[in-house]
Amino acid sequence: MALVSGKEILNKANKEGYAVGAFNINNMEILQGIIKGCREKKSPVIIAVSEGAIKYAGFDYIVAMVNVAAKENIPIALHLDHGRDMDIIKKCIEGGFTSIMIDASNLPFEENIEKTKKVVEMAKPFNIAVEAELGRLVGIEDNISVKERDAVLINPDEAKEFVKKTGIDSLAPAIGTSHGAFKFKGKPKLDFDRLKEVKEKTKIPLVLHGASSVIPYILEMVNSYGGDLKEAKGVPEEDIKKAISFGINKVNVDTDLRLSLVAAIRKVLAENKKEFDPRKILGPARDLISEVVAHKVELFGSSDKA
Ligand code: G3H
Ligand code: 13P
Ligand code: ZN
Repeated sequence: MALVSGKEILNKANKEGYAVGAFNINNMEILQGIIKGCREKKSPVIIAVSEGAIKYAGFDYIVAMVNVAAKENIPIALHLDHGRDMDIIKKCIEGGFTSIMIDASNLPFEENIEKTKKVVEMAKPFNIAVEAELGRLVGIEDNISVKERDAVLINPDEAKEFVKKTGIDSLAPAIGTSHGAFKFKGKPKLDFDRLKEVKEKTKIPLVLHGASSVIPYILEMVNSYGGDLKEAKGVPEEDIKKAISFGINKVNVDTDLRLSLVAAIRKVLAENKKEFDPRKILGPARDLISEVVAHKVELFGSSDKA
C-alpha cells in the first residue's frame, strides 16, 4: 500500500466516530515500534514528524523510512507536526508528505487565517490534508476561572469562521491539554462543553494535541531505574475516551513514546552494567513502544479499521 492522504484516514474516522493515533517519530526504532503495534491491531496510523525531527533524522531518511513502512497492509499517512516554517512546509508538500499541520496559532486570528489559507492552496493540487490550530495549548485544572479559560482556549464561533474562511481539513482546538510530561499540577479539567460546541459548529475532524497519558507503569519504570520524573502527569485515559466521544478524530502522542523508550533503555542498562550492544538496548525499547501503541489504538477505537 502507498502512503494515503490524511483526508482519507480522518474523514472515515469522523464518519464512523473513532480516532486515529498520530504518533511522533525521531528514529527507525520508534517508527518500527509504532508500525508493529498498529499492524497487530489492524489500525490505520498517522506518522507525525516535527520540524525538529526532520532536522535530527534528515528529511530524506524520514521520507524513505516511512515509505518502507507504507508497504504494510494498513493505511499510513505521513504528517508534518506543528509546521511553522513555510520553506519546510513547501518541502514536505512537494516531497511526499500526505498531511500537513500549519501551526500559526501564535499569530493574531486574521493572520492565522491568512497563513493557513496559503498552505491550503499549496496542498490542494497534491490532495494533502491540512490541519490548523486555534487557541493556546496550556494545561487547565479544575481551579481555573471562566475568564482565564476564555483567554487561552478555543472560541467556538471563531472556530466556525476559521474553518469556513480557510478550507482546512481538520482543526486542533485548545481545550486544556499541553505538550510534554508535566501537563497538570492539580486535577485535570478538559473543557468538554467547548469541544462539543466546536464540533457542532465545524463538523470536521478534530485533533487533540498534548494527549499523552503519562502511563503509570511506564513512569514507575523510568523512576525506579534511575530517572527523576516524579511530578509527571498526563491526560487520564477516560478523558481521552470522552474527548473522542465528543468529536476528536486524531490523538497526538509523543511523550508516552519518549517515556517508553527511556524506561526500557534505563531498565536494560541498570540490570546489565556490561551491556553495550545497541540492539539489546534499543530492541526492548522498540518492543515497549509497540505494546503502548497497541494499547492506545484499542483505546482510540481504531483497531480493525484498517
Ligand atoms: O508537539 C510537539 C511534539 O511532541 C514534537 O516535539 O518539536 O521536540 O520534536 P519536538
Ligand atoms: P504529548 O506531548 O502529550 O505526547 O503531545 C504530542 C503532540 O501534541 C504532538 O503534536
Ligand atoms: Zn502538538
